[in-house]
Amino acid sequence: MREYRVNDNGHLVFGGCDTVGLAREYGTPLYAVDESYIVERCREIRSTFTDKYLNARAVFASKALQTLDVIRIVTREGLGLDTVSGGEIYAALKAGADPSKILFHGNNKTPEEIRYGVENNIGRFVVDNEYELEMIERFAGELGKVQKIQLRITPGVDSHTHSKINTGRLDSKFGISLEPENRDRVIRKAMQSEHLELMGFHFHVGSQLQNNEDHLMAVEILLDLVREVRRDLGMEVKELNLGGGFGVRYVDGEEDVRVSDFTDPMMDAIRAFCVEEQMPLPVVYIEPGRWIVANAGITLYTVGSIKEIPGIKTYVAVDGGMSDNPRQILYDAEYEAVVANKAGLPADKTVSVVGKCCESGDIVVEQTEITGKVESGDILCVFTTGAYNYTMASNYNRLPRPAMVLLREGEHRLSVRRETWEDLVAREL
Ligand code: LLP
Repeated sequence: MREYRVNDNGHLVFGGCDTVGLAREYGTPLYAVDESYIVERCREIRSTFTDKYLNARAVFASKALQTLDVIRIVTREGLGLDTVSGGEIYAALKAGADPSKILFHGNNKTPEEIRYGVENNIGRFVVDNEYELEMIERFAGELGKVQKIQLRITPGVDSHTHSKINTGRLDSKFGISLEPENRDRVIRKAMQSEHLELMGFHFHVGSQLQNNEDHLMAVEILLDLVREVRRDLGMEVKELNLGGGFGVRYVDGEEDVRVSDFTDPMMDAIRAFCVEEQMPLPVVYIEPGRWIVANAGITLYTVGSIKEIPGIKTYVAVDGGMSDNPRQILYDAEYEAVVANKAGLPADKTVSVVGKCCESGDIVVEQTEITGKVESGDILCVFTTGAYNYTMASNYNRLPRPAMVLLREGEHRLSVRRETWEDLVAREL
């Protein structure tokens, strides 16, 4: 089990705050996010990557946790932003992010989104396909601009992760396939365009990876490509983008990896390649999302009904569920939990934590050990919910989405207000 702090009242402490006090003050379900943790992770990326290597850049994959506050925190720490929609770009700009440090991803950017991105001087479009390439060129032409782009390739690496978050294999909706004729046609088109500046290539192999094997394999494929396009097409490769995907610890047996376990060997390979090829070292990007925010967040729930099925299972139902955390139902994700107001008691009972949605798959934690003294009215904390929870939440069953509170060394403030029933019908005419 993980280590956590418990205060004299036997309450779980997170971000320096008494979590039971937070639940009382802000209500439940509640996302609580520790700003200091996000800052620490950004600084680790700086010290081990962007400050360590010449021309290294890190952008936060904001789909993992996009709020105006979080955008301000990571950009203040010097990171750029990876965005995947007009909505994410809108929020990034609203939070004051520097557009030149925004990357725009996505396999099916709409004309409106492309125009919006070009108009707002977004730093790089990560171009996924030829259809998009032509559209960017057209809008950039109309607006009299030159848009910098990276081309996303499909490295054909079948990464070691859940099939729904494996993105780099050949059979993928993402990226340009490396079949030579196809690849060369797209690259030539980009090189010849007056309104596009082709900076280099991007790959993303998958998410929640526990070791660097897949990334290293993809780097080899990427460097082969660089060698060939320099030789055959005379392309100058100025940038390489190695994506995100660095895993975190959710439960026992999983590693909280160091980003440098991935970046150091990849940088070694790239530097050796550049010496051998006598080419200048390109600017190298990474795009971590989960690694920065997953363990910055917890969710606090109130326990309602408890159902004991003798010899089978104990269901502990909470006042949220798949609506605020759909990751169990989507990816069989595992979590650890603790009864926050009884955090000093031994975890001696195996339970299933379930939500309140009308669906038997509405499970938050399939199996976890908590205190057998759990009872209705207790506050239950689920750990490691900082990534892909708030951003993937829904209003299924008309459940209002939770509030988010931002913590910093014992201080706390509301960052996202709780949705109301009125909000739920506000768009309906
Ligand atoms: N770059 C690109 C192009 C991506 O597609 C992603 C994630 C990232 C970076 C960041 O990956 P990370 O460092 O967070 O692993 N909803 C799923 C995860 C989907 C990831 C999608 N792309 C989940 O909850 O596990």
